[in-house]
Amino acid sequence: MTLRLVLAVSLDGRLAPPAGGAAQLGGAGDRRVLEEALAWADVAVVGAGTVRAHGCSCLIHRPELLQQRQSRGQSPQPPLLIASRQPEPVGFDHSWRLWGQPLQLWWLSSAPLLPAPPKGFERQLALESWQGLLDQLNSEGHQRVLLLGGAQLAGALLHEDLVDELQLTICPLLLGGEHSWLPAAARPHPHHWHLQEQRPLGEGEVLLRYQRTGNS
Ligand SMILES: NC(=O)c1ccc[n+]([C@@H]2O[C@H](COP(=O)([O-])OP(=O)(O)OC[C@H]3O[C@@H](n4cnc5c(N)ncnc54)[C@H](OP(=O)(O)O)[C@@H]3O)[C@@H](O)[C@H]2O)c1
Repeated sequence: MTLRLVLAVSLDGRLAPPAGGAAQLGGAGDRRVLEEALAWADVAVVGAGTVRAHGCSCLIHRPELLQQRQSRGQSPQPPLLIASRQPEPVGFDHSWRLWGQPLQLWWLSSAPLLPAPPKGFERQLALESWQGLLDQLNSEGHQRVLLLGGAQLAGALLHEDLVDELQLTICPLLLGGEHSWLPAAARPHPHHWHLQEQRPLGEGEVLLRYQRTGNS
């Protein structure tokens, strides 16, 4: 099974501007590779903070990618697991685009689960440990897991050394501020990462894809 973290980051390693909010750092090239990563995935995982900032999630639009998924017998979009420490969504608004998007939403919570999934969610999963979640997904046949951020979630999974691949779009911006793509308190394992792919995406953006080597 493979867990791939996908982020668009500035030259100074930020994933959002100093004011935070709904960050859109990447251009058309980043959008393209994000859709390719979504098309690769069996499921996607995102932090509730990112959903609160955007009120929606990213979708695959390109017909050839949707076609590839259909020919593999997959749903058009990978189910989206929204991770939270709350038993139900807090600060989620009824007016968000999220509710109208063609996405299966799964609530992923480290709090004790309620008797039924929250409204708008097809499933709820207990997050007792990240390894346990990955084992459960694997046993259900979901072997390609895409982590869409944000920083807190990236930090949690890197801390447990569960990220196999890092896919970063480097965007030609200097943002400053506190929103590094890993929280300052994160303590990821000191692996070397093996460069698997580097690809100019146009408009000064570069895709870098690294694989964890296991060597520290
Ligand atoms: N540039 C990019 O590619 C990119 C990608 C993603 C996000 N972003 C930006 O990043 C910012 C949001 O990132 P963020 O770090 O603030 O938020 P985040 O990681 O998306 O979400 C944080 C929330 O996730 C839940 N959570 C965190 N750790 C958890 C754990 N171990 N177990 C269970 N739930 C957990 C908590 O939700 P509850 O509060 O509900 O308990 C927490 O408040 C936004 O500005 C967004 O635009 C940028």
